Amino acid sequence: MDLEEDIRSLQLDSAAEDINGVVNPEDEKPDVDKMDEGLLSGSDPKQEVQAQSVEAEPKAKVKEILSVQDEEDEQMKKRHLNVVFIGHVDAGKSTTGGQILFLSGQVDDRTIQKYEKEAKDKSRESWYMAYIMDTNEEERVKGKTVEVGRAHFETDTTRFTILDAPGHKSYVPNMISGASQADIGVLVISARKGEFETGYERGGQTREHVQLAKTLGVTKLLVVVNKMDDPTVNWSKERYDEIESKMIPFLKQSGYNVKKDVSFLPISGLMGLNIKTRLDKSLCSWWDGPCLFESLDSIEVPMGDPKSPFRMPIIDKFKDMGTVVMGKVESGTIRDGDSLLIMPNKDHVKVVAIYIDENRVTLAGPGENLRVRLSGVEEEDILSGFVLSSAANPISTVTEFVAQLQILELLDNAIFTAGYKAVLHVHSVVEECEIVELLQQIDPKTRKPIKKKVLFVKNGAIVLCRVQVNNVICVEKFSDFPQLGRFTLRTEGKTVAVGKITAL
Ligand code: GTP
Ligand code: MG
Repeated sequence: MDLEEDIRSLQLDSAAEDINGVVNPEDEKPDVDKMDEGLLSGSDPKQEVQAQSVEAEPKAKVKEILSVQDEEDEQMKKRHLNVVFIGHVDAGKSTTGGQILFLSGQVDDRTIQKYEKEAKDKSRESWYMAYIMDTNEEERVKGKTVEVGRAHFETDTTRFTILDAPGHKSYVPNMISGASQADIGVLVISARKGEFETGYERGGQTREHVQLAKTLGVTKLLVVVNKMDDPTVNWSKERYDEIESKMIPFLKQSGYNVKKDVSFLPISGLMGLNIKTRLDKSLCSWWDGPCLFESLDSIEVPMGDPKSPFRMPIIDKFKDMGTVVMGKVESGTIRDGDSLLIMPNKDHVKVVAIYIDENRVTLAGPGENLRVRLSGVEEEDILSGFVLSSAANPISTVTEFVAQLQILELLDNAIFTAGYKAVLHVHSVVEECEIVELLQQIDPKTRKPIKKKVLFVKNGAIVLCRVQVNNVICVEKFSDFPQLGRFTLRTEGKTVAVGKITAL
């Protein structure tokens, strides 16, 4: 059976109708996953470094916003979007991300010169732009992103958080983490001869990333055809068209509505072309479309409901004049002074301060990445995967749930049956899980339940099953909070299934 077809049939979101009655919204995203290797876990490795190093330069200062009204005005003016950069290794994600920061005035020439020298010393001359995003030594030496880099920039209408995912296949769990926090995706594709082909092949990360992004709730994609300046490309319309025409059917198969949810544009991340300003006709006569900033500006994404119960999965925590937790608001609104619960432990906490980037704010709604200072809880008592939650209407806690699973590719074509064990990634939770019972198989074509009793299934199957975890976790039904009820199952570093929670 064809994997792509399987995935398409799973594309729970884009299917017109869903077997469990979830009519599926172009809704929101789930949250953060964590990786099995623990690369992003606990001690907030690069995310924090990144935020600091990138932001230290732009001299952003803590800005106290005094009245709620002012603050609301401030936030209403500009929406906030999380954008994840995905794509095959070396496609130019970090270079493009770095260039965006440079062009938006956040990195000065001196720093660039310093990076040029450092890159040269490491015999990686062309990597200097990527160094803006790749801040740790291992990444700079190897020229590969490992942990999801984080940075911020603004256009006229939007405040963006860039999540720069790694392309290398060993770091797919980190990519899942980045994509699960994102509202939109920038899929970077290298147009250089041979490079597009390797990424697009089966087993290439262009494919895997697109499929994961869709599953993780990245509903809109901007496909940037990068390295258009490369001598093997030289802004060739033929090469661009070839890539676009090969990508379109694949994106469709992966569940994207290409007309509505996807747009393409040519860029050079390294040279900074078609990023902040449109392309010069003398360089590329055939492109009439927008530049990257314009395209990002014009993407429309439905946002979560600010009036629904508050939920913020915790991706990290640290001590700083109290306990500070980090995460993305998936639903509801948080205000200074709120009394909330940290689930699943039901620790009562009080909100002491809320920060968006370096700015202190008095309230924040869905989609915002926050740092929240809390009283009433010790940092040691919080784990990533816990959820800061409305006290009146806290998130559900379970050790077992029913889910509709799409089996992608089992290792060694194993069979999937009761007793199957894998690692569950749901928002910021990473937990070992076991399939305890297969309840019903669903015909991928008709999406109707198959009457026959099901004992095992194979690659490509859609199956309703009971899933058990050892520790209590915080999740929701997909139909109530899509981003908190959508998950992936991974084993030995491979995504074997994706699914959504249908009953708790
Ligand atoms: P991973 O994080 O390891 O997945 O790679 P990445 O996608 O972040 O790629 P990165 O930005 O590190 O760039 C990889 C290589 O491609 C570097 O040598 C870059 O200089 C080069 N590169 C990136 N963008 C362009 C471009 O627009 N034109 C040319 N000619 N080279 C580029
Ligand atoms: Mg990179």
